[in-house]
Amino acid sequence: MTIRENYSLQAHHTFHLPVSARWYVEYGSTEELKNLLQTDLVKQHPLLHIGGGSNLLFTKDYEGVVLHSAIRHIEILEEDEDSVQLSVGAGVVWDDFVSHCVENNWGGVENLSLIPGEAGASAVQNIGAYGVEVKDVIERVNVVEVSTGQEYQFTRAECRYGYRESIFKKEWKGRFIVTSVVYRVQKNPVFNLTYGHLEEALSGYGEITLKNIRETVIAMRNSKLPDPDKTGSAGSFFMNPVIARSQYDRLKEKYPDMPHYPVDGEQVKVPAGWLIDRCGWKGREHGGAAVHDKQCLVLVNKRQATAKDIMELAEMIQNSVKETYDIAIVPEVNFI
Ligand code: EPU
Repeated sequence: MTIRENYSLQAHHTFHLPVSARWYVEYGSTEELKNLLQTDLVKQHPLLHIGGGSNLLFTKDYEGVVLHSAIRHIEILEEDEDSVQLSVGAGVVWDDFVSHCVENNWGGVENLSLIPGEAGASAVQNIGAYGVEVKDVIERVNVVEVSTGQEYQFTRAECRYGYRESIFKKEWKGRFIVTSVVYRVQKNPVFNLTYGHLEEALSGYGEITLKNIRETVIAMRNSKLPDPDKTGSAGSFFMNPVIARSQYDRLKEKYPDMPHYPVDGEQVKVPAGWLIDRCGWKGREHGGAAVHDKQCLVLVNKRQATAKDIMELAEMIQNSVKETYDIAIVPEVNFI
């Protein structure tokens, strides 16, 4: 276990703002975490558990304890003719896990290639891309309760997954720490190529394989999203709004090219990136912050942005979308 004081978080969150934590603690096992939760350091100070920091906006220094998992196993629990059940430590870099699956020819997560962050957070955020959500492959989530140090195991159903949602972000926010996730991946995968231009983009390859899907998804992401090594961002800053079908039908009259995805009979999801784009925000800057010039859903730290620059830009965008379309868009990013 490593404990650091007055520790810079700049490398631990993807916006790369110059903020620090009063304490930063990294633990390597569930036992270590349970012991840590009994210490005065943790009991007497505010606590923030981070993963890859890819969904956070630090608005100031964190005057408490920032925890990070270094539980990094990938273990086979069960295997049969059709599938493999794997336990993956919360601190495993998500894309390392995807790469591991693709190398072993196990399908289910290839569409989620290159999503930043770690396995533990995947089960909290229900990360998703190109028609797949991680809930589709999650079987169980292992956690420790912060207040008691007690271990629990939750089934997928108990986690109440929805679009970018889980019980860990709502009723149980802050109550549990994910230590590992149990995923089931397929030996004879059924490819999911329904999203956007994925199938078309794959047509250059002779045959469709997990490796080709992974390469295509990586190329698609790289062409739209900023390079995390060069430009700070938190991926999608906003969630895609879900609106009533009646409102969508009214908007469609005026904006017939508005993309949309049916959620159910009553509701329709609309891409926030399209709404922001059509309000004229592409590439616009505010202080050091900017709207990414290839995907308006992403706000970037263009040149030494402050959290204030980013928050003000976000608010201006929200107001503009509300005024134009009467749609409220809400951040996916957590403000700390
Ligand atoms: N669009 C525009 N202008 C823009 C951005 C998008 O017109 O600036 C249009 C696109 O042309 C397309 C539609 O909006 O018709 C949707 O765009 P895209 O396929 O890029 O997906 P998205 O809905 O904007 C979501 C996820 C992404 C994920 C992609 C691909 C959310 C909040 N975001 O974005 O996730 O990679 O789908 O599946 O659901 C992330 O969470 O950080 C992230 C990048």
